[in-house]
Amino acid sequence: MDFTLLKTDVGSKARAGTLTLDHGSIETPIFMPVGTVGTVKSVHQRELREDIKPDIILGNTYHLYLRPGIEILEQAGGLHKFMGWEGNILTDSGGYQVYSLSNNRKIKEEGVHFKSHIDGSKHFFTPENVMEIQRSIGADIIMAFDECTPYPCEYGYAKNSMHMTHRWLERCIEHLKKVPFKYDYAQTFFPIVQGSTYTDLRKQSAEYIAGVNADGNAIGGLSVGEPAEEMYAMAEVVCDILPQDKPRYLMGVGTPINILENIALGVDMFDCVMPTRNARNGMLFTSEGTINIKNKKWENDFSPLDPSGMTFVDSDYSKAYLRHLFAANEYLGKQIATIHNLGFYLWLVRTARERILSGDFSDWKNKMVNQMNKRL
Ligand code: GUN
Repeated sequence: MDFTLLKTDVGSKARAGTLTLDHGSIETPIFMPVGTVGTVKSVHQRELREDIKPDIILGNTYHLYLRPGIEILEQAGGLHKFMGWEGNILTDSGGYQVYSLSNNRKIKEEGVHFKSHIDGSKHFFTPENVMEIQRSIGADIIMAFDECTPYPCEYGYAKNSMHMTHRWLERCIEHLKKVPFKYDYAQTFFPIVQGSTYTDLRKQSAEYIAGVNADGNAIGGLSVGEPAEEMYAMAEVVCDILPQDKPRYLMGVGTPINILENIALGVDMFDCVMPTRNARNGMLFTSEGTINIKNKKWENDFSPLDPSGMTFVDSDYSKAYLRHLFAANEYLGKQIATIHNLGFYLWLVRTARERILSGDFSDWKNKMVNQMNKRL
């Protein structure tokens, strides 16, 4: 793994870099489309590869472990081969999915007991077995097993949870030493900063995580319902402590505005279900603002989905046609909307990178934030 920082912006803390892993180079800042169960929902791998072109996508340990299961993934030779994706993959550890199960899990020092959302069967995740599972899935970047605290979160709970996440991190690191790579390429491990919305805890956690000296570092426990200003404040505190020369990944973020604001604070990597999930509900992020394609006002609007045209769907299809597909509940509607939104998110981070490199990121960012606030 190599991370080369090419430029840091003068007017902000935004950075442009290149992260090189065994399945190719990643130009940062990057947005990673979410492919929870080994598919970026409603997009073919071919469209991902040829049209959207993310250098890296996400998978989820929790979902892949439950279905198809580790044995199948090992027989396939890992997730890349199983799903026919030759680019990089990052797997989240299950820390967040387990948190989302709220009533169907019990968190203890040893690990987390949980019930499958599929059939109610009982399972137990520990820092150790989650590292083994991630070795078997075979992503290029694997994540520490952590506890993602909810918002709001009482100070005492956040503090104890953060310390447990740190103890779990030591167990992850110790165990990884004992479990070799399963396939013919390397895996990089990222620890996760927690600490809820408390500045002192965030500082403490960021210092602890920085001390581990991993190849890259993640910020978790944000975008869980807190006001955007609190998210930015925490991201800033943490970015100022995490090493400059390692990539920083803000987990589960966010709206186009959230992404731009966090790039300005020094975050390099993002993932979120928003472009894909919202697309399936008819919400499109465009260079002119956000639109609900189901709205009657698009009924006879034959203009392109987005005049800036990030992918082929923007020029091939009109708003009126896409609205019709949603009205008729046709599969193609969700596909077109998803390709559009991912194309937009990737355009956004690529343009941010160009602007950082050309030295006018802040002006462009402020203009884009104004634009993105518009509902058309
Ligand atoms: N995805 C979004 N937030 C989090 C987090 O805090 N932990 C993990 N593991 N994944 C996340």
